[in-house]
Amino acid sequence: MDKKKTPATTKKVAPKAAELTATVPASPVAEASAPATPPSPRATAAKPVAKRTAAAKPAVTKAEAPQATAKVATRKASTSKGEAKAAQKALLAEQDGPKRILCIACLVSGRPFMKEATKAGHKVIVLTGEKRLKDEWPRDILEEIIAVPDIFDEKVVRNVIAYISQRRKIDRIVPMGDFDVEIACMLREHMRVPGMGETTMRYFRDKLAMRVKTREDGIPVPDFVHVLNHDEVHAYMQRVPAPWVIKPRQEAASMGIEVLKDDQAVWKKIMELGDKQSYYLLEKYTPGDVYHVDSVVAEREVEFASVSKYGTPMLDLNKSGGVFTTRTIDRKSADYKALIEINKQVVASLGLVRGVTHIEYIKGREDGKFYFLEAGARVGAAKIPDVAWYATDVCLWFEWTKIETQTNYTLPKVRNGYAGAIVCLARQENPDLTPYNDPEVVWVQKKKHHAGVIVRSDDPKRVEELVNQYAVRFAQDFMAHVPMKA
Ligand SMILES: Nc1ncnc2c1ncn2[C@@H]1O[C@H](COP(=O)(O)OP(=O)(O)O)[C@@H](O)[C@H]1O
Ligand SMILES: [Mg+2]
Repeated sequence: MDKKKTPATTKKVAPKAAELTATVPASPVAEASAPATPPSPRATAAKPVAKRTAAAKPAVTKAEAPQATAKVATRKASTSKGEAKAAQKALLAEQDGPKRILCIACLVSGRPFMKEATKAGHKVIVLTGEKRLKDEWPRDILEEIIAVPDIFDEKVVRNVIAYISQRRKIDRIVPMGDFDVEIACMLREHMRVPGMGETTMRYFRDKLAMRVKTREDGIPVPDFVHVLNHDEVHAYMQRVPAPWVIKPRQEAASMGIEVLKDDQAVWKKIMELGDKQSYYLLEKYTPGDVYHVDSVVAEREVEFASVSKYGTPMLDLNKSGGVFTTRTIDRKSADYKALIEINKQVVASLGLVRGVTHIEYIKGREDGKFYFLEAGARVGAAKIPDVAWYATDVCLWFEWTKIETQTNYTLPKVRNGYAGAIVCLARQENPDLTPYNDPEVVWVQKKKHHAGVIVRSDDPKRVEELVNQYAVRFAQDFMAHVPMKA
């Protein structure tokens, strides 16, 4: 879709929410808008472990040809100045030319990335797990979908992708979600494909590694200790007053996170964890509002940042249920400025060269200071990219495509608007969202047992007001809670 067609200002008449979905173009990031092409599984496995769904391609594709030429030209580069220039030109053309991108996606995610990449002339292959093979992938634009029985089985994934690479050169490997980051980096290292490698990845996937590094670089973090040496854990609990949070180093969505109120509860938990304890850290429970900054990073510089605030902190939401909200905050506020600054420091500290980030911060209720919470080298989940797009006209998925495939990244024009999302699980199969019809409503969810709305305004106060009002109404009208698995 053409995002330029999106009205820059909010609507003056108040149409019904249901009508709005028809008149306001869907966000390029709206996952639900992807075509639900029926799956056509063809189990013509490359290896017994892989399932593939698209037709096999010829051994040498058009995309591979210019690269071969460029390599020959580079080799001859030393012969004369003219030839060296030509070789350099060819190399640049190769770098910016059509590529084959392998998207790692353990869940259906990143469809806007795939669409944008295809539109720009790149070929996209998806690697997923067998259980997700029949999900709603944008099959019509993909070169192929490959499924392995267990996407977290590194050896199998390496073998399958190496086998595919015998015939088709893979130029880029991009993770679509948090759990896919490790697989992508492992494969990049194995095949020497450019992009973030395993050392940097560790800072974005391991909560202990990111804490240690940012603390070393002078960034405020909740005081913590690795659950490894029991004397150190004991000394930590003597030094840092309860309550504490125990959290796994490599999970997501608040999984395995617990608030512990005294040292007995900590030792009990540590004993229960047994051999798993070294995969955890213990840190100071820091009550306060949680913010997130979603950035585009090119050549280590934060080129773009969308600064937002969650309604209920994610831990409370995941444990006790509630309505998820997020909204971009006033660019003139002190919080905005402080977050832009700390976010730059975190990106520099963790060493991301290029990519997108979703980084979370807590504003300590006691001291009003921002603490670094966690960082992801990926697009934020839920409706986060949609909110950023409705606020600024910048689609994080699209920008990521460019960052991965172009040598010189340029940020598109940014609109300084504001947006917010209100989302929850609904008791009703088809929740009626028509009463949510303020002119600022620009997107309405159409998914069974889900209620969701995005609002947009040029006034941050109006967005805040609507998000707060709608969150209360959503709780009454729709909210259902499915308790999180322990
Ligand atoms: N030190 C802390 N103090 C207070 N709340 C915390 C702390 N660490 C985590 N939380 C809560 O738990 C949620 C999830 O923690 P986080 O470190 O972001 O892991 P996840 O990868 O599961 O999102 C946060 O959004 C916040 O609500
Ligand atoms: Mg988090």
